[in-house]
Amino acid sequence: MSQFSESDYRPEVLVVTPGIGEAGLALAYIRLHDPAVDGPLKDQYDRVIAISSRCVHVGCPVRYVAAAQSFVCPCHGGVYNFRGIRTGGPPPRPLDRFYTLIRDDRVWIGPRYSVNDELRRFSPRAPGEPLDGIGQFLYPATPSTPPAPSQAKS
Ligand code: FES
Repeated sequence: MSQFSESDYRPEVLVVTPGIGEAGLALAYIRLHDPAVDGPLKDQYDRVIAISSRCVHVGCPVRYVAAAQSFVCPCHGGVYNFRGIRTGGPPPRPLDRFYTLIRDDRVWIGPRYSVNDELRRFSPRAPGEPLDGIGQFLYPATPSTPPAPSQAKS
């Protein structure tokens, strides 16, 4: 917990699918919940924010640029603000997130989920699928088995 702050993201490599090498890894940008930015806590999974680096346009890896407090995608110019909400370019929704839980002063990372522009949670959607308005009905979640929770690997 002491490695994370409210004002900056820390990149962490996650083991999403064990046993398949680099193909099973994902990158998450992690920070603590900030009531001034994020509003009141929704629940116990909201105390730590873990944002997926996978762009929701077609899946390129985004990079967090601290000076601009934005996530930037190199492929087609997608830009997301500090909270991962799209502010420019073609992505159709905010960046996906991972469930988080604090136990024994450590951060545990759970399955990925998708969010709409109000950061309401939805089961994971594929890149390119919007979640606002009629989009949430046009692109229902595809059935899948959620991966086992993994711990940040440093
Ligand atoms: S993949 Fe990120 S903007 Fe296209």
